[in-house]
Amino acid sequence: MLAELENLHAQAVETLEKANTTAVLEDWHRDTLGRRGSIYLLTRQIGQLSAEERPVFGQRLNAAKDELEAAYEQRLAILKAAELKHKMASTAIDVTLPGRSQWRGRLHPATRTLREIYRIWGDMGFQVYRSRDVETDEYNFELLNIPQHHPARDMWDTFHTTTPGVILRTHTSPGQIHAMREYAPEPIRVILPGMCYRYEQITARSEIQFHQVEGLAVGKNISLADLKGTLTDFARRMFGANRKVRFRANYFPFTEPSAEMDVECILCGGEGCQVCKYAGWLEILGCGMVHPTVLRNGGYDPAVYSGFAFGMGPERITMLKYGIQDIRYFWSNDLRFLEQF
Ligand code: PHE
Repeated sequence: MLAELENLHAQAVETLEKANTTAVLEDWHRDTLGRRGSIYLLTRQIGQLSAEERPVFGQRLNAAKDELEAAYEQRLAILKAAELKHKMASTAIDVTLPGRSQWRGRLHPATRTLREIYRIWGDMGFQVYRSRDVETDEYNFELLNIPQHHPARDMWDTFHTTTPGVILRTHTSPGQIHAMREYAPEPIRVILPGMCYRYEQITARSEIQFHQVEGLAVGKNISLADLKGTLTDFARRMFGANRKVRFRANYFPFTEPSAEMDVECILCGGEGCQVCKYAGWLEILGCGMVHPTVLRNGGYDPAVYSGFAFGMGPERITMLKYGIQDIRYFWSNDLRFLEQF
């Protein structure tokens, strides 16, 4: 029986060392030293021993129990410490890890061009004047010298509201009348940016909505030379100091004389390419001296005051600048397009 004890003891020591979690260790304790444990069961058999054998065996048994109990406590402490350490490590937050970065948006290409245009005109002393998108027929056409049934109206077919005579503006020019009526007879230097609308078949070259930036200068002794000088300066600031410009005579009902301004092609520098259709020039705006009738409608006496006006399309300028082939990209909300800017 003593041999059995030694055997059990040795076995217990061996399995104890293999216990690698506190749960396994608790099982070991129950199976070894517990009320039904292997060592405990041996004490039940003491009665079978002779009187001389009993004390020797009893002593050895107690010593073995104490030894195993001590070894158990020691092992338990080690495993508990290890488990705590593991738990702390696995639930810890690594504060040195870089965070997940937010997806940052950016300005729409049309907005970027608009801001650049504002900055240049701001430097030249022109303030931004806001004018409404919903206009009356009177402001959009009549006061700009485009009467009912005038053939020039064909250029500007638009969207009508259910209220007769109330439409979406086809250009930013009605803002000229609003600004003049607000400031007359003071001199004016403003730009009027905003969305315009035309009822058109949507193609790569035309959209039903697009931005315009109108410009208006009114005062005494403003001449065609001022128009040409100011717009040439704008073009150089916008497209580069050596950029050539040219003016071509044109017709608008609200300016007289009227012109269109071209800049030397910004992609090929005048050599001729696909974007300028091998002309070497790109048309970027319409302009002219404010028509006497329009000055009068705005509250200025055309015998005393004069002025110039212009209108440009920032989307068109952006297309020319980046070689964008289709104006519909601007408002179709396709991220593959927008992310390129
Ligand atoms: N309103 C004109 C257009 O839409 C542009 C323009 C503005 C021309 C001012 C001359 C003066 O085409």
